[in-house]
Amino acid sequence: MNGSKTHPASAGRRLGILLSGRGSNFEAIARNVATGNLNAEIALVFSNRPSAPGLARARELGFAVASIESSNIDREAYDRQVAALLEEHAVDLVCLAGYMRLLSGAFVARFPQRVLNIHPSLLPAFPGLDAQYQALAHGVKVAGCTVHFVDEHLDGGPILLQAAVPVHDDDTAETLSARILVEEHRLYSEAIAWVLAGNYRVEGRRVLKT
Ligand code: GAR
Repeated sequence: MNGSKTHPASAGRRLGILLSGRGSNFEAIARNVATGNLNAEIALVFSNRPSAPGLARARELGFAVASIESSNIDREAYDRQVAALLEEHAVDLVCLAGYMRLLSGAFVARFPQRVLNIHPSLLPAFPGLDAQYQALAHGVKVAGCTVHFVDEHLDGGPILLQAAVPVHDDDTAETLSARILVEEHRLYSEAIAWVLAGNYRVEGRRVLKT
């Protein structure tokens, strides 16, 4: 991504949440919407895993939900179906919340700078799976999480916000993950609110306040 782009305040505030698992980030967003801390609406919760606990929770909470099993389907064809669903629900901003699937370039191009992801590391360190385990194995003293715009690269794209947490000597992947998750739940809604407010510009890889 090159050059500088400014963004008028987003006209719409309809979120599409994509998840594959537990869905605690989705629930944190839903709580912030319910309490009025985040001025947005969850229009659709989608999963590539019909049995994802996060999807069941979304259904229980009364949100519109959908899922399409992703095994054995060509990535672009699959993503076209997901994009069509998001468009049917008039989604303005797509939020990946533990969505463990790489998106095709065609999908990203269909929602330019309208797809966010949260990752449990201080990117560009430790992209991919088991980021907290990777951080411990590498011996870092500070870990954290990142919210970024999604591009076609794994955990790539310009960074919106990051939060750091200390790594303790007696940490396991589980204790470190729990410490990071507290920050994830706060940071994601903050980043969504920022993007919806539209007071940022993207210069190369840098997302700057305007
Ligand atoms: C979260 O820690 C999120 O950062 C991570 O998956 C977890 C999902 O938890 N995402 C990635 O690793 C993306 N590369 P949740 O289902 O409870 O929100």
